[in-house]
Amino acid sequence: MEKVIKIGLLGSGTVGSGVIKVLEMNRRQITERVGAQLQIKTVLVRNLKKPRPYLRGIHLTDRFEDILNDPEIDIIVELIGGLHPAHEYMLQALEAGKSVVTANKDVVAQCGQDLFEAAEKNRVDFAFEASVGGGIPIITPLKQCLTANRITEIMGIVNGTTNYMLTKMTECGSSYADVLKEAQEKGYAEANPSADVDGLDAARKAAILSSIAFNTRVRLDNVSVEGITKITPEDIAYAKDLDCVIKLLAVGKDSPETGVDVRVHPVLLPKSHPLASVNGVYNAIFVRGNAVGEAMFYGQGAGSLPTASAVVSDIIDVARDMVNGSFGKVRCTCYEQKKICPLSKTVSSYYIRLLVDDEPGVLGMIATTFGSAGVSLKSVIQTRQNVKDHAEIVAVTHPVEHARIQQAVRELQELPVVDEMRNLLRVENDRG
Ligand code: NAP
Ligand code: HSE
Repeated sequence: MEKVIKIGLLGSGTVGSGVIKVLEMNRRQITERVGAQLQIKTVLVRNLKKPRPYLRGIHLTDRFEDILNDPEIDIIVELIGGLHPAHEYMLQALEAGKSVVTANKDVVAQCGQDLFEAAEKNRVDFAFEASVGGGIPIITPLKQCLTANRITEIMGIVNGTTNYMLTKMTECGSSYADVLKEAQEKGYAEANPSADVDGLDAARKAAILSSIAFNTRVRLDNVSVEGITKITPEDIAYAKDLDCVIKLLAVGKDSPETGVDVRVHPVLLPKSHPLASVNGVYNAIFVRGNAVGEAMFYGQGAGSLPTASAVVSDIIDVARDMVNGSFGKVRCTCYEQKKICPLSKTVSSYYIRLLVDDEPGVLGMIATTFGSAGVSLKSVIQTRQNVKDHAEIVAVTHPVEHARIQQAVRELQELPVVDEMRNLLRVENDRG
């Protein structure tokens, strides 16, 4: 008789229902690949009255204890989201000797360490492939397929909502407010879009990716975060003039001199960069390793079936461990203590857009101010505005420390000829 591995599913929303569908759709292959049958025994939900026709024959409950205390259930799959009670449920499951699979970036980014410790102590598995990049395999490739490398850089488009919005602004010249409304109507952005547009969703994923890539614990408060709310159609148009596109990137760099630098912010990305052509709701993660060179992982970063693809793969991995009588092949990989590079010491090129008086000597004053702050300019564009006697200046700098550019901006704002500091964005250009 074939062994049956029983699963408790916490949550049956977008991803939970996708997991049920994938397990059903690919049942035969999955059974053969695992060497045992996978069966969802019980599903935890909040509202027992909601119609869920796809749950035929599966026991439904609104009490977590029904799953936790069921000795037949060996794997708990957490898909309710948010920090609480998801964190407590996962911890209790691990302490009860059940392996845990999750897609929850909030918990992994903020409480990953205690979950890893509980898994190890109780000799069970803890897997979280779907917490970054939805259906894109990236956690397992970093932990396994690329583990022969020293990873020096990881850079990703890890938020589909903002990538959709920036793509629409680029393709149609629309305003931020208009594309946000459209993204909400299409169901990409939530009614409260803050976690996406302010960069927090991407920051959680940046913390998870950097912790794994650089083998050191990167906490959420180590990530400097800037969202896309200040991007205007004018910035998008100037980016095009500079042969760039604007993308919200999660960036992690590891340097023996300056430490680990992890941030999320919009950047002007040269059109030649592999990430520049990742459009719409798609995600991609670009990795640089000292043996593999450059590698990029691309696909759907969200959605019911794509995310379920990653969750079910984790379930299969855990089930294979059970069939083989093993656990935790790849344990927590944060075994080094590395210093975190303070934001002031991070180095980037910058794009600065200023509204200035349109009169003789103004460009000279601005160039002198940059020079005295120690900022070297790469290019300057000046366009006449339809505001009388004013011009807009866009300067692009050579790489410079964040503290220096901040000093230059303060000094520029004090010049009587500078009327408005319109935007300051990073430019990503160092591929090599
Ligand atoms: P969702 O559609 O909102 O579904 C959440 C499910 O959890 C619902 O079935 C809900 O029950 C249940 N639930 C919520 N709080 C609960 C509680 N306190 N007790 C019991 N049940 C509770 O969420 P989702 O989009 O599937 O996301 C699930 C997880 O996957 C999140 O961590 C999310 O970040 C992650 N993720 C999602 C995507 C995506 O494309 N959606 C992509 C990558 C990762 P009711 O049905 O009764 O309301
Ligand atoms: N809100 C996320 C996005 C999906 O827009 O990509 C879940 O991680």
